[in-house]
Amino acid sequence: MLRTSPPPLFFRNAAQLLTLAGPPVPRRGPALGEMGILPQGSVLTQGDKIFRVGRTRSLEREALRLRAEAFDCRGRVIMPGFVDSHTHLIFAGSRVNDYELPLRGKTYEEIARAGGGIQSSAQRVRKASVHSLAQQAREFLNEFAAHGTTTLEVKTGYGLDAAQELKILRVIQLLQRESGLDLAPTLLALHALPASFRGRRAQYVETVVDRLVPSVARRKLVEFIDCFCDRGAFSVDDCRRVLRAGRQWGLVPRIQAEQLAHTGAARLGIEIGAASVDHLDKLTAADIRALARSDVVATLLPGVNFHLGLKSYPPARKLIAAGAAVALATDFNPGTSPSVNMQFIISLACTQMRMTPAEAIAAATVNGAFALRRADRVGSLEAGRQADLIVLDVDDYREIPYYFAVNHCLMTVKRGRIIYLRP
Ligand code: NIG
Repeated sequence: MLRTSPPPLFFRNAAQLLTLAGPPVPRRGPALGEMGILPQGSVLTQGDKIFRVGRTRSLEREALRLRAEAFDCRGRVIMPGFVDSHTHLIFAGSRVNDYELPLRGKTYEEIARAGGGIQSSAQRVRKASVHSLAQQAREFLNEFAAHGTTTLEVKTGYGLDAAQELKILRVIQLLQRESGLDLAPTLLALHALPASFRGRRAQYVETVVDRLVPSVARRKLVEFIDCFCDRGAFSVDDCRRVLRAGRQWGLVPRIQAEQLAHTGAARLGIEIGAASVDHLDKLTAADIRALARSDVVATLLPGVNFHLGLKSYPPARKLIAAGAAVALATDFNPGTSPSVNMQFIISLACTQMRMTPAEAIAAATVNGAFALRRADRVGSLEAGRQADLIVLDVDDYREIPYYFAVNHCLMTVKRGRIIYLRP
């Protein structure tokens, strides 16, 4: 499809322009709270890129020269679009029937053992067509855009065999072509043991290594490979085997680690050079020190703890104090976190994990971009970056978490095009 270049746009006079600009490394320690705020800031786009960022007065003339369409952002905050680096976007239906179980005391693992959880989503996916999976995901993507997300990771994982995983990947491909958003595809190679392999876990892992990983990698359908490495899921050895296989095919590893029990999965992430390790509820002090010394992004998913009604949250403050690169993501999925709203994740990060609003915003934008290896393009507002930005109906960035659980997004711009405008 031939698309014309978008016309120049001039977003002027923002009460606060959060640039998140900085050196080309993930934000750690005190640098996580530095957002590069410009008062009375403006962004001028040209085509799909940011042309200039600066004080409004200094950009007026250039905007006139380019005949840019101007948007008055007085009393608003402008910031980069959210980079949601952990989602399970493609599933069929929901698991609303399980919603009341944790409220009555059942744990996530008990629900899974009783045949609910990932297995029940896999059964639904098996019966669903590419068309119906795409239709449901498309509606969610519109909601992501409306809530200010411009880039998101999309995992497979509800297929549990090569044919079904390839079906999910066809859906992701279709959505990549038509969606205004950037989708970063991940093969979630080990998620749950299919019923047909009960008691034969080692054979299943071999099938994943011999069939699933090569057939997906050969078709160049994904950038990342992920494993659920936890109690009741897969062991560190299983995951090491599969992630190494993926790495040999050029896929970048990431791991769902230390969510339900401490297993050593975060250390595996460091050993294998993962882009990120995600969840991290059960980290030890030694893990935290090791993560701080590594380049692996520690991605925290407080929506899960909120949705399951858990009392404890991942140790964000300890990670930040140690110097780890912390990111935040929704973990959008039907079982543990059915929310597309990164603004609410920021509120949870503040109230439940004691992150400051500035730290949480950086974790949800620039550090998310590092977790997806896209920080040279997205996550900050700097000349030459993709023109991915949002305009929020607040005049102080702290109001994003303060007025919690509402959508502040007025406008979402992706690659220089307005893809959402509040009616
Ligand atoms: O990220 N960590 C495990 N997997 C998902 C849950 C998926 C599901 O329950 O459907 C998670 O929380």
